[in-house]
Amino acid sequence: MDQIDTLRGKYIEAVTAAADEAALESVRLAALGKKGEISALMATLGKMEPEARKAAGAQLNVLKDEIDAALRARKTALADAALDERLRAEWLDVTLPGRPRREGTIHPVSQVTDEVTAIFADMGFAVAEGPQIESDWFNFDALNIPPEHPARQEHDTFFMARAEGDDRPPHVLRTHTSPVQIRAMADRGAPIRVIAPGRVYRMDMDQTHTPMFHQVEGLAIDRDISMANLKWVLEEFCRTYFEVAEVELRFRASHFPFTEPSAEVDIRCSWEGGQLKIGQGDSWMEILGSGMVHPKVLSAAGVDPDQWQGFAFGMGIDRIAMLKYGIPDLRAFFESDLRWLRHYGFSALDLPTVFGGLSR
Ligand code: DAH
Repeated sequence: MDQIDTLRGKYIEAVTAAADEAALESVRLAALGKKGEISALMATLGKMEPEARKAAGAQLNVLKDEIDAALRARKTALADAALDERLRAEWLDVTLPGRPRREGTIHPVSQVTDEVTAIFADMGFAVAEGPQIESDWFNFDALNIPPEHPARQEHDTFFMARAEGDDRPPHVLRTHTSPVQIRAMADRGAPIRVIAPGRVYRMDMDQTHTPMFHQVEGLAIDRDISMANLKWVLEEFCRTYFEVAEVELRFRASHFPFTEPSAEVDIRCSWEGGQLKIGQGDSWMEILGSGMVHPKVLSAAGVDPDQWQGFAFGMGIDRIAMLKYGIPDLRAFFESDLRWLRHYGFSALDLPTVFGGLSR
């Protein structure tokens, strides 16, 4: 059967020459496919004499198996070669020393959020979160700001749209982080110690205001927490955050619907030569609002005001970032100007910790 040998030679050679899987598949179809050459020969067996058919059939089967085995071997070889090529191309020398790059930096807002979180975590505060699109109830009512309350106007609120005919109060972009107080207490009950850093929104824009900015809320509720605890926590925070040996805080009577009594807190500072210095001097700079959580706020969150009491405070993260790092204009925070980011950004590898140093 010369024909068999010829076919064998032809297809084995074609298999060896196939440079990729597609070429290999064409060879398979040409030989063994339904309309392939070998399949066609198989079809002629039926017309042969029994003896001849037996011999030819056996030979054709052997040939089929041989070509099949060659195809498989070639397929494996091609896959191995492709893998070798990839391993060569993606080779990486892990013994090369790291190259410090200043291309990506940590934004001051992220840095300060990490610093604040590290300091309060050290004092036993957990981090709580809430949605940025907040219900009217959480943002206002639960915080003792009913619909007719004048404080609502002061918040320059962004309202979400409601479907036509839906006359429930619209959701809002939260105007402060205070609603997280309610969510945290409703979730975890008392006693509780949390901070809630995050984005807040108000319709306002000038050198010190942007429509989106950041606050951190603080909340500590237990059986006998007082203003004295608030004062200590804030002093401890300021000393650590501003990285100065001494700070002096001044509590000024104020009013917030969600605290009673309420106090705004100023920090002693100086403006010598136009340069702000925190810690000493004869000026005061307002840094936050605070007070004892109003009994109605506790009730709204499902905490019994006859058993529990505590303090809350709210502070602007961007604002204390500007104070600590001498950044003059808030708007630049959110302009994504690479020159600004390189100048004011922080190294990604220096995580702020209270024990290791916050801003180094
Ligand atoms: N939510 C207030 C604001 O956005 C800040 C604030 C003041 C928060 C007093 C408090 C607080 O928790 O006790 O201006």
